[in-house]
Amino acid sequence: MAEAALSIRGLAKRYDDGTLALGGLDLEVPAGSFFGLLGPNGAGKTTLISAVCNLLRPTGGEIRVFGLPNSSLAARRMIGIAEQEPNLDRFLTVRETLIYHGGYYGMTRAESARRADEMIDVFDLRAKADVRAPKLSGGQKRRLLLARALLHEPRLVILDEPTAGVDLELRHELWRYIRRLHEQGTTIVLTTHYLEEAEALCEEIALISGGRIVARDTADGLKRRYEAQTLEEVYLKTVATGRLAAAREEEVPA
Ligand SMILES: Nc1ncnc2c1ncn2[C@@H]1O[C@H](COP(=O)(O)OP(=O)(O)OP(=O)(O)O)[C@@H](O)[C@H]1O
Ligand SMILES: [Mg+2]
Repeated sequence: MAEAALSIRGLAKRYDDGTLALGGLDLEVPAGSFFGLLGPNGAGKTTLISAVCNLLRPTGGEIRVFGLPNSSLAARRMIGIAEQEPNLDRFLTVRETLIYHGGYYGMTRAESARRADEMIDVFDLRAKADVRAPKLSGGQKRRLLLARALLHEPRLVILDEPTAGVDLELRHELWRYIRRLHEQGTTIVLTTHYLEEAEALCEEIALISGGRIVARDTADGLKRRYEAQTLEEVYLKTVATGRLAAAREEEVPA
């Protein structure tokens, strides 16, 4: 059987202030899949993703990327991440941001310049190519984050709420592009609060709450298991906070 894109065992993270964000989480993401990670604010999605990408030090557990320890250089090079919080160098232009990124990932200058141009077109940043990050609008910053994540042609692409604050056109353009990458064999891990988006795109979905995976299946499988008509209903039955679930109970039937 092919090596899983992501294999996580017993992943735990307690932040310095005592917050337990992940409590021994296991997750296997098959190679080549389009995988969704859904859950309420504070569930642990970004913590999980940050641990995979070596952006924080877990308190326990093991993470492998295509069979390799996630901290290895080879594993790092196979991952492309677009973080939830834009983290762009304020002194670099759009084009420089992309070209330098290629350099960090071992691409030649010519190769990364070529890819940078390609990504600038894909994400419609041509008019801003020589503008520094602080002068970009919120959505343009997100476009640049996505362009950077994909620049080095990673085998595993992790997108943490990529469509938050993004206009309708880019949303469609982005999904068209990501779908194409997926068809070419790239593994995609996505978090989003847009459940229709997850349902339309993801082959498999894991619901995360309180730092644990509470359910994992195809969208149809989840709906069957929880006797729900929509993924939103599954969400409300499984991981919604008490507040949301209570509001729903109060809904008066027509
Ligand atoms: N640097 C930090 N120090 C302390 N606690 C943190 C830190 N970062 C996150 N947390 C806490 O860890 C928990 C999980 O947060 P995380 O950002 O992983 O959630 P999330 O699922 O990504 O939520 P959202 O949907 O809002 O992005 C929360 O309780 C959060 O307050
Ligand atoms: Mg998050």
